[in-house]
Amino acid sequence: MKKIIMLMSLLVTVSLMGADSKVDGEKVFEAQCASCHIKMISKDDLVKQLKTVKAPPMVEVSNQLKNNIKIVDDLDDDIHRAVVIAFIKDYVEYPHLDKSMCQAMALERFGVMPSMKGKISEDELNAVAAWVYDYYIGKKF
Ligand code: HEC
Repeated sequence: MKKIIMLMSLLVTVSLMGADSKVDGEKVFEAQCASCHIKMISKDDLVKQLKTVKAPPMVEVSNQLKNNIKIVDDLDDDIHRAVVIAFIKDYVEYPHLDKSMCQAMALERFGVMPSMKGKISEDELNAVAAWVYDYYIGKKF
C-alpha cells in the first residue's frame, strides 16, 4: 500500500511538473529580464539611448547567440535550437566573462551579468530560454 501511495504521489508530482512547464516565457522575460535587457530596439535607437542602457538588448543577444553558436552542418535546426537554449539556461544561472559572447566593448560597459540562481525556477528558466530563441526568429537586430 505504501508503495502504491508513493508511486501515486510521484505521478502527481510528474504531472504537476508537466503543467508548470506551460509557464509563459514572455511573462518571465518581462518580470525577470526586461529591467536590464530591452526587448526590441533598432541599432540606431540603441546608439541614441546607450547612456541609459544596462545590458545588450535581448534582440541582439538572441541573434548573436544564434550566429555564434555553430554546430556541424549535418545536424538539424532542432539541435541548434536546443544548444542555444541550453547556453541561455546555463548563462542565466552561471554567467561568466569566459562564456559571454558579448563584444569586449559591451562587457566593459555593462560588466558581467549577475547570476539569477535561486531567483528563477527551473520551469521559468526553461520557458524564458525557449522564448528568447523563438520570439526573435526572423527579427533581426
Ligand atoms: C541586472 C541586469 C540583468 C538582468 C536582470 C538580466 N541580465 Fe542578462 N545580461 C546582463 C548584462 C549586463 C549582460 C552582458 C554581459 C554578459 O554577457 O555577462 C547580460 C548578458 C546575457 C546573456 C549572454 C549574452 C551573450 O552573448 O553571451 C544572456 C543569454 C542573458 N543575459 C540572458 C538573460 C535572461 C534570459 C534574463 C532573465 C531571466 C537576464 N539575462 C536578466 C544583465 C542582466
